Amino acid sequence: MANTNRPKKANSKVASKGNGENSELMEFFIDELKDILWAEKHLVKTLPKMQKAASSDELKNAFEEHLEVTKTHVDRLEQAFERIGEKAQAKTCDAMEGITKEGEEIIEDTAEGTATRDVGLIMAAQKVEHYEISTYGGLTQLANTLGLSEVADLLASTLQEEKDADVKLTEIAENHINYEAAHEHE
Ligand SMILES: [Fe+2]
Ligand SMILES: [Fe+2]
Repeated sequence: MANTNRPKKANSKVASKGNGENSELMEFFIDELKDILWAEKHLVKTLPKMQKAASSDELKNAFEEHLEVTKTHVDRLEQAFERIGEKAQAKTCDAMEGITKEGEEIIEDTAEGTATRDVGLIMAAQKVEHYEISTYGGLTQLANTLGLSEVADLLASTLQEEKDADVKLTEIAENHINYEAAHEHE
């Protein structure tokens, strides 16, 4: 009888090297890091446009503040790459590209200086934050699973800042902007 047990595919690339280094999970982790690095860099370019488009000073300030925070996120990701000995390479994040495109459409579809535009900008910005929160939440866990506790700490710091930004946006919307938009004339 012929031997039907095919030899397992040689997979030297994913051969385990100590603490899970080079494992498939590690490759996936690095790929996701590249994705979020692209997203953060993209946001560094997008946030000034959102700031410029915002009507209220409160929202303008929030975008300005988050731009500075976002630059820190890029730095932390670069540190994370350094810790794991990988090149900090960005890879197009289709999701973030789509969410920010939606934000640009909101700017086109609403009038300058209106609270309605701010409502739209807040919604777009919160979609960005929620994407970041889920990404950093998953990546922090994954870093821990891979035994990369220092990288996990970096990612957890950013995760917290994304959550803070989300709360801040909700507050701005609740405090005035939604009310103003509801009472705005066309
Ligand atoms: Fe971020
Ligand atoms: Fe963010």
